[in-house]
Amino acid sequence: MPSDPTGTVALAFSGGLDTTVCVPLLQEEYGYDDVIGVTVDVGQPAAEFDEAGETAEALGLDHYVVDAKAEFADLCLQSVKANGSYQGYPLGTALARPVIANAILEVAEEQGCAALAHGCTGKGNDQLRFEAVWRGSDLDVIAPVRELGLTREWESEYAAEKGLPVEGGDGGRWSIDTNLWSRSVEGSELEDPGHVPGEEIYDWTQPPGSVDSETVEITFEAGEVVAVDGEEMDPVALVEHLNERAGAHGVGRSDIMEDRMLGLKVRENYEHPAATVLLNAHEALEALVLTQEERAFKAQVDQRWAQKGYEGLVDAPLTNALEAFVEQTQTKVTGTVTVKLDGGQARPVGRDSEYAVYSESAASFDEEAVTDDIEQADATGVAKYHGFQSRLANRVADSVAAKVAATDGGSDGDTEE
Ligand code: ARG
Repeated sequence: MPSDPTGTVALAFSGGLDTTVCVPLLQEEYGYDDVIGVTVDVGQPAAEFDEAGETAEALGLDHYVVDAKAEFADLCLQSVKANGSYQGYPLGTALARPVIANAILEVAEEQGCAALAHGCTGKGNDQLRFEAVWRGSDLDVIAPVRELGLTREWESEYAAEKGLPVEGGDGGRWSIDTNLWSRSVEGSELEDPGHVPGEEIYDWTQPPGSVDSETVEITFEAGEVVAVDGEEMDPVALVEHLNERAGAHGVGRSDIMEDRMLGLKVRENYEHPAATVLLNAHEALEALVLTQEERAFKAQVDQRWAQKGYEGLVDAPLTNALEAFVEQTQTKVTGTVTVKLDGGQARPVGRDSEYAVYSESAASFDEEAVTDDIEQADATGVAKYHGFQSRLANRVADSVAAKVAATDGGSDGDTEE
């Protein structure tokens, strides 16, 4: 707890139960004079802003709303360059947190606040992502739910006792986090990894097969997504468009066991139609324009980038260094990929780039190769050498084994003596 808890504290405010109970607690338990609530727009549904606004008003809370959609969309498209996916999750919540944390910090500094607070529990990832940003400032950081060991039950009772405006108490059956890039559903019966969820958990995606399949053309320039079906779009509009369009085909559902930073496994269900289309298209284009060894090495870089993204450490020196490598590779990732949206899948079915590391004549079965004057017969020497070391190693091992067997036979004779 901060040594001198006076002044104003800026609270990351959603209007849900956790952040609502934090408002009186920050004054009564922590002794702050005043609380301001900050809600950052990273593409949540309008209803969430209504809820936050109404709850803030009912609480008499000074409420700030910051639009960070454009900045967040840029980060999402940056993640596509690194094929950003952690255990099959395209990082929507994870990438949003540093954006939200920075926006709140900015408001807090403008308003001369003494401290920052969030309503995260001590079990999840978000506390770490928020604090990674906030602890770089001079402001105190407070996590009432974690520090006071609060449970949902306690919060509900406290809210009722205090007459706090919490609709329905726990905000519904599941814990849902939605932004431009992904929608996550967890909790309740979904906590049983064996439970097979029904259609009711989905909101962005239709049951696969509900509409006729179609193709969509994604254009990249230096790894950056710039157009859909030849039409240039700004990142926010582009992601919203693809979420709707691919969502109709049931694209981008995932049901995974996710390893949280603290080591806890959690069963997560996600919807991310736009992310799936863009990630699949981007990988297909990289497969055309990058060399074999660039692809192999980049897969490792990508995985490490996704890990940093998951940790909310998008500004770590390692992340920046990985991005320098990614950027270098993306200079050639320019071209168009045709993706088929069909039965829950977003399948690349065509790709085209002036940087294609591809010679049709060299790969063709129909003509004698011409690239670099290489002919079929040139492969004979390569074919003779291929696997040479393995053959040699196996032969040596066999002959050593045969010698050992022969000596063992002799010593058997000795013992019989
Ligand atoms: N497990 C994901 C993450 O840590 C998403 C969590 C979303 N939160 C939620 N209440 N559904 O990034």
